Amino acid sequence: MQSTLAVSGAASGLGRALTERLRADGSTVVTVDLHSVEIAADLSSPGGRAAAVAGVLERASSLAGVVPCAGLGPQHPSERIIAVNFFGAVAFVEGLERSIAPGGAVALICSNSTTLTPGADGDLARACLDRDETAALAIAADTNPAVAYAASKVAIGKWMRSRVQELGERGVRINAVAPGPFLTPLLQEGLDDPATSDLIKALPIPLGRMGDPADIADVVAWLLFDGARYVHGSTLFADGGIDALLAPNRFP
Ligand SMILES: NC(=O)c1ccc[n+]([C@@H]2O[C@H](COP(=O)([O-])OP(=O)(O)OC[C@H]3O[C@@H](n4cnc5c(N)ncnc54)[C@H](O)[C@@H]3O)[C@@H](O)[C@H]2O)c1
Repeated sequence: MQSTLAVSGAASGLGRALTERLRADGSTVVTVDLHSVEIAADLSSPGGRAAAVAGVLERASSLAGVVPCAGLGPQHPSERIIAVNFFGAVAFVEGLERSIAPGGAVALICSNSTTLTPGADGDLARACLDRDETAALAIAADTNPAVAYAASKVAIGKWMRSRVQELGERGVRINAVAPGPFLTPLLQEGLDDPATSDLIKALPIPLGRMGDPADIADVVAWLLFDGARYVHGSTLFADGGIDALLAPNRFP
């Protein structure tokens, strides 16, 4: 039977590469983004999130997988980062998870900024996990966007772990990938910004290169299907070795 998956952020970068990879493998992908895809919806607002979910469900009553790739980098206002990266991603998954058939999977997009950014695991991540968007946006307004970005991803990683029992009982797996620097428009914004350009370029990468979006597409495609059938609740770093290089004694 052909599988149908839902991918947000499918117009660009990692989401687009994943969509292309899944389609090349024979899957049907229902795509969501601000523009240039099947369902145009703004995941920063409750109305846009509901429209995204409704649009997917109109096209597919049963899903093999859900991947919220839509996201904003640290060059955007902190409130919008939190609204899209955490609340938009979680609403997308929660709105669709009951339509994921047993054997299906959710793959979330985390980031290696979680372990590189001091202050990422603080009040802002906690407010996200409390599901208090008003409080989270108020804290975000006083938070540097780089920290807000990393906090949104800490919250995604912890939220993923909180879901293993409920989803596991239904035969649905949930995992996350934590990409390092991938050459996408999001990273390009950081490379073009004099405040962050040198920092990004100075990142030591044991594999000697930044990631290509196709590299993440391969990892996420693996996580979604049977080869990863016993992988549940994991955050898989796909960062060319940066995390292990910078924190060799941290385990896991
Ligand atoms: N590129 C990297 O180095 C990197 C590293 C770690 C994590 N990530 C994460 O990967 C994910 C994809 O990022 P990317 O690098 O492909 O970026 P990208 O900018 O190429 O793509 C992001 C997509 O999200 C969409 N989007 C943004 N706001 C939206 C909204 N309000 N509603 C709907 N769609 C919206 C954009 O239109 C865009 O198409 C993000 O969650 C990002 O945080 C990227």
